[in-house]
Parts: sequence; structure tokens; C-alpha cells
Amino acid sequence: MKTTLRHYLQFSDLSREEYDYVFARAALIKAKFKRYEPHQPLADRTLAMIFEKHSTRTRLSFEAGMHQLGGAAIYINTRDSQLGRGEPIEDAAQVFSRMVDLVMIRTYGQEIVERFAAHSRVPVINGLTNEFHPCQILADVMTFIEHRGPIQGKTVAWIGDANNMFYTWLQAAEVLDFTLHFAGPKGYGVEKERPGYALSAAQIAHLREFEDPRQACEGAHLVTTDVWTSMGFEAEKLAREQAFRGFMVDAEMMARAQADAVFMHCLPAHRGEEVAAEVIDGPQSVVWDEAENRLHGQKALMEFLLLGRLD
Ligand code: CP
Ligand code: NVA
Repeated sequence: MKTTLRHYLQFSDLSREEYDYVFARAALIKAKFKRYEPHQPLADRTLAMIFEKHSTRTRLSFEAGMHQLGGAAIYINTRDSQLGRGEPIEDAAQVFSRMVDLVMIRTYGQEIVERFAAHSRVPVINGLTNEFHPCQILADVMTFIEHRGPIQGKTVAWIGDANNMFYTWLQAAEVLDFTLHFAGPKGYGVEKERPGYALSAAQIAHLREFEDPRQACEGAHLVTTDVWTSMGFEAEKLAREQAFRGFMVDAEMMARAQADAVFMHCLPAHRGEEVAAEVIDGPQSVVWDEAENRLHGQKALMEFLLLGRLD
């Protein structure tokens, strides 16, 4: 049984070799789940889930996943816990990590999960921050592999906001070695010098920026987008709706991609805004597999963080 403490705060916290293992393990765990075969390596283990923002998929997948692995999950939101009344995050980390085996946090600033992890005795998982959403890209890459094989050398087109999902895709592009195309409106583009998270030369080498979203889709194996207004940015909603006009992923954009390109969206989606109904509900869309793979990918991740490699 492994003893080294590992966290999953950014996609780049795992190496390519570790992802190869986790994706293979996720496929095995998924296959067992489909056969109704129990897989319970985390019996008697407890996951605490701390939510400071809304969630459907993240809560469902972590809670169901931990149950299926033989353990238990506890849901805590900051509104009705002492975290919402100013208890220091460092103190919370000390207390949580003496009572549970694993902690997942969905919050605003990335520094919050980093401060929690720095004071935690148990692995901490980023369930989405303003800066990153690594669990989602874990599921997305798993879904691409299922449908189209290895992602190495492929092209992913990101249309829309340079947000937490985009910057996580960029980390994945470097770790797993694929090309990421970006097209978004002026004022919402890629920030090379993001405070605390400046892009590395290797990340920039995997990125190509376009003004025209149709050009960004050219030759892509995967086209993806996200809400125009992420959680925490609601005050900008109207300005964003104006700025993002023309950046809806539609059939014309998909026609520029590879003939067998897949469409992904982390959900929740807004048909007629960032994506046309004909795309998200069309034959190239794999969004339901993508959502389902949150469950299987995170089960493999939790097992890996707690038990290490089992092969
Ligand atoms: N994609 C995703 O993280 O969904 P939720 O916000 O519903 O958890
Ligand atoms: N970028 C979105 C993702 C939601 C799952 C947000 O942060 O709200």
C-alpha cells in the first residue's frame, strides 16, 4: 500500500505514464461496473466533498463513485458549515484530514485548494476552481480515447472563453502531447501571464490561437466549448452575451473539423448560445459518455491517490 501523499489540484499533477495507468484502470473499473461486478478497494474509506459553488455532475459522480468503491462520501457546503463563517481554511484542512481519507473541494480561487492541500494529511482533489477543472478533462480525455483512440498528436479545438476548462485543456495538451486550437472574442482570450499560473513555453508550444472560430475548427479531431459565463462571473453575463456572439459551435464549424470529429461539452449547456442544438444533440456529440466518464475516471483517480498503482 502506498504512503506518499499525492494531491490532484491541476491536470499537470500526474505524468503521462500515470495518466496511461489511470485511463486503463478507469476502463477496467467501468467494464466491471457495467457487468455489475463489485469493485470495492476503498471499503471503510471516507471522502469529504466541500462545495462553495453549485454542482450536479461533480457531486453525483464523486458521491456515487465513492459508494461504489466501498466507501462513503460526506457532502458539505460552505453556506451551512463553519467554513462560511470564516473558519480558516488551514484549520479546516487539519480537522478534515484527521477524520476522512480524501477531500474534494469545489471553490473560487485555486489558492484555496492549494492552502487546504498544504495543511492536509490526506489527498485533496480539485473539483473545479476559477482557474482549473482537472477532473473534467480527465473524463474528457478518457471519452476521446474510448471513441477515437490515443489523443497524442491529435488536435482539439476550443471555442469560447479562456476559462478554467480551457487552461486545463492546455495543461493536458502539454502532458499528453496534442495540439490545442483556441478562438474566443477579444477581451476574453488566452492570458499568457495569468497571475500565479503563467503559461510555460511548452504549453505555448502546444497552443495555436485564431480569431475566426471556423478556422480554429479546421482539421480538429475534437471540438469543444463551455458556458460563456462561468460560476463566479455572473456580473459579466450581459457583456459576455454580446461579446461571444458569433462563437456558437454550429454545424458549419463542425463541417470544418475532421469528418469523424467528436463534440464535447462539460455541461451544463445552453443551446442557442455556446452550442447549436443540432451539434450537441447531433451524431458527433459524445456529451453523455463524457458526463458518465466523470464517474469512472474519478473512481480510478481516487483509487490511485489512495492506493497507488495496483498493477
Ligand atoms: N461539468 C461539471 O463539473 O458539472 P457540475 O457543475 O454539474 O458539477
Ligand atoms: N467553466 C464552467 C464549468 C462548469 C462545470 C464554470 O466554471 O462555471
